Amino acid sequence: MPSFRVETPQRAYEAIVERGAIHRLTQCFPKRLSKVFVITTEDVWNLHGAAIAGHASEVLFFPGGESRKRLSEVEALAERMVGAGGDRASVVVAFGGGIVNDVAGFVAATFMRGIPVIQIPTTLLAQVDAAVGGKTGVNLVSGKNLVGSFHQPLAVLIDPDVLRTLPEREYRAGLYEIIKCGVIRDPELFHLLDRCPENVLAQEPETVDRIIAGAVRIKAEVVSADEREGDLRRILNFGHTIGHALEAETQYTRFLHGEAVAFGMRAATALAERTGDLDSGSRKSIERVIARYGPIPALDGITGPRLAARLAADKKTVQGQVHFVLPVKIGGVKIVSGVDDRLVLESIEAVLA
Ligand SMILES: NC(=O)c1ccc[n+]([C@@H]2O[C@H](COP(=O)([O-])OP(=O)(O)OC[C@H]3O[C@@H](n4cnc5c(N)ncnc54)[C@H](O)[C@@H]3O)[C@@H](O)[C@H]2O)c1
Ligand SMILES: [Zn+2]
Repeated sequence: MPSFRVETPQRAYEAIVERGAIHRLTQCFPKRLSKVFVITTEDVWNLHGAAIAGHASEVLFFPGGESRKRLSEVEALAERMVGAGGDRASVVVAFGGGIVNDVAGFVAATFMRGIPVIQIPTTLLAQVDAAVGGKTGVNLVSGKNLVGSFHQPLAVLIDPDVLRTLPEREYRAGLYEIIKCGVIRDPELFHLLDRCPENVLAQEPETVDRIIAGAVRIKAEVVSADEREGDLRRILNFGHTIGHALEAETQYTRFLHGEAVAFGMRAATALAERTGDLDSGSRKSIERVIARYGPIPALDGITGPRLAARLAADKKTVQGQVHFVLPVKIGGVKIVSGVDDRLVLESIEAVLA
């Protein structure tokens, strides 16, 4: 069973990648335990809830969707937990995609000043990204993820079997985050994604298990070295600077997060070639692998200058500088700021063309 240890100042825990991992839930319970609150969405519960239903004291449904990732939902869930006898010895089980992960994690982080959470991610994106690392939170009207907390889970149970029911587009969107992991830190993972797109897209179990484990290993290593997004954790933002701009520019409706990241990775890769950090052969390899898992929705109506203007508003802007994670080879990146605006615009336009 591949299991990856995450060691942070807050807590050390395992992220287990295994078919059937969902059945390990009771092994993760703390010794002192009163109620088990499963926070989930109805769709996920109807598809996969039977596996854990017997261990839940209460199942709390959350409507799901980015627009419901709000403090009001956190309050409603906490009220229901109090009403059902929740106390400091209660545990939250976050059972769903990245949205459930973030909302349920934040409920756990703040309920009675913090109770444990066990993450059972059910989308590919949540399995390889959101569930490991302890970031939780909700959106404000002013922007995404602006209120939140680092709250590391007791354990993360990653069961690739649950992905069988995931819509194909959601699955592909998660694959882009795995490509990201290959580019930033793991040439072998990158080449596997390059060689076997048919196996990956058909969810051939051995291949899927390998790529998920590869990505989770990287996330676990990076978070262990840097829980709170200093320089190392920022390498995980490859493709995200311009990807976030694209998501914001299209009001979070046209592209799934992973799709926007695919666009952002292409633009950052084009930029790396222009700054002289990446050779054209590697740039083409990255382009090719991203294309193998595409296409993403049409980019009609999106312009370079508008995306460039969005970058300035990105919250990862530090002291007026936009940071980019640029690949320097397959499996290695560097973080740069103060890149010439003209090169950024040119790179975005090259990808839009
Ligand atoms: N905390 C972090 O570090 C982190 C990292 C990346 C993303 N995120 C957050 O994650 C969110 C996006 O997550 P997402 O892409 O998983 O979207 P999501 O949570 O909205 O899930 C996508 C859809 O798939 C459904 N679903 C989930 N599992 C399923 C399954 N097994 N079978 C069928 N349907 C299933 C969900 O109900 C939902 O309708 C964003 O809000 C983003 O900010 C957080
Ligand atoms: Zn991401």
